[in-house]
Amino acid sequence: MNVALLGYGVVGKGVANLIEKHPEYGVHLTRILVHRKEQAVSVNMTDDINEILNDSSIEAVMECIGGDEPAHTYCLNAIQKGKHVITANKKMLSVHYDELARCAYENHVSLRFSASCGGGIPWIRNLEEIAKKETIYSVEGIMNGTSNYILDKIFRKGRTFEEALREAQELGYAEKDPSDDIDGIDTRAKTVLSANIAFQKAFDPNDVLALGIRYFSNEEYKYCINNRRVCVLKGIIQNHGEKVSLAVLPFFEEMHSLFASVHENYNCFLLNSETRKQLAFIGEGAGRYPTASNMIDDLLSLLRNEEFRYLPSGKGSNAEEALSYRFYIRSKDNKAFESLIEKEVGEDTYITRAASLKKLREALERNNDKEIFIAGISHD
Ligand SMILES: NC(=O)c1ccc[n+]([C@@H]2O[C@H](COP(=O)([O-])OP(=O)(O)OC[C@H]3O[C@@H](n4cnc5c(N)ncnc54)[C@H](OP(=O)(O)O)[C@@H]3O)[C@@H](O)[C@H]2O)c1
Repeated sequence: MNVALLGYGVVGKGVANLIEKHPEYGVHLTRILVHRKEQAVSVNMTDDINEILNDSSIEAVMECIGGDEPAHTYCLNAIQKGKHVITANKKMLSVHYDELARCAYENHVSLRFSASCGGGIPWIRNLEEIAKKETIYSVEGIMNGTSNYILDKIFRKGRTFEEALREAQELGYAEKDPSDDIDGIDTRAKTVLSANIAFQKAFDPNDVLALGIRYFSNEEYKYCINNRRVCVLKGIIQNHGEKVSLAVLPFFEEMHSLFASVHENYNCFLLNSETRKQLAFIGEGAGRYPTASNMIDDLLSLLRNEEFRYLPSGKGSNAEEALSYRFYIRSKDNKAFESLIEKEVGEDTYITRAASLKKLREALERNNDKEIFIAGISHD
């Protein structure tokens, strides 16, 4: 099979190396799209996307550019030209899923994105398989390696948030601007893509509350330690029958729980389904070769003529009223939460009664504290 690679960075180079190292795959890397002309240092490199789109011998493109545009348009155009698309780009795909999945369906090609959630963990592929056969009840996951690395270093090594973030940046886990990771945006994209596969819908990331760990402070650390808990950032999907709820927020987990044992930059997806009950998928959630391997697996599945064409049955609606927790809230502006508060546990720090995400969101809209920190309390 002739394939083209779009983007030759961390993941793109990993994909190219794996293809070169394994001629037995039967894959020929015909073209590599680079960003600028001067980066085209070998004969198969180009900075002109049309050389790839107009080459009818190329059957699949592997998108490793990242970001929204031009990645979105390149993927759309490739599909319209009858090429399979494999992408690692959760940010772009979670926003344009409906359009790209429909277009792939109509053009009889596959849209594959295993590497977009969980790096090297074969999560999406297994979720696809299971969702075809049985009802998915829930998914919970530590889906962002950077925030897990930071929280793990705080709890196990006594680092401050700033020290742990700096370490994550030095190790290449966190970008210079870590906002998407620590504000829950990256986790939200992965939660949405997982829900799309689980329920054959197209959920809108903008409908999903995403609370992050940016303002995690020593107050939270002390509360967790005193209550034998640790903090993790999780994406949540709950199926209530007619309704599905999605959310992203930090959780205070009991110290002996599965999620509390997920260290360093690892990810963990916990699936609850009709016949399999609980399944956990744990592994490195990022990195050149884990991520590239997941893309290669997608490619090899195409060579086996396995089709991945999903027609979303419609827009997903997020039932925030159906999911409730007790929350830990630290805010200087607590007025908005007054009706939810059960007790005060420290200065400007409260535990709420069980409240729905809808009620929490409504209160948040009335709150003016930019540095508020909120966590759900697991199994409480
Ligand atoms: N890194 C990971 O561990 C990981 C894990 C899972 C998923 N992903 C996803 O994989 C994708 C790629 O990530 P990455 O870490 O490989 O990023 P990266 O190292 O920044 O690589 C992106 C590459 O694309 C190039 N590029 C940018 N705009 C381009 C354009 N218009 N045409 C052609 N090339 C262009 C960049 O070139 P310049 O640098 O010259 O601009 C760079 O070489 C992202 O969607 C990311 O979310 C990454």
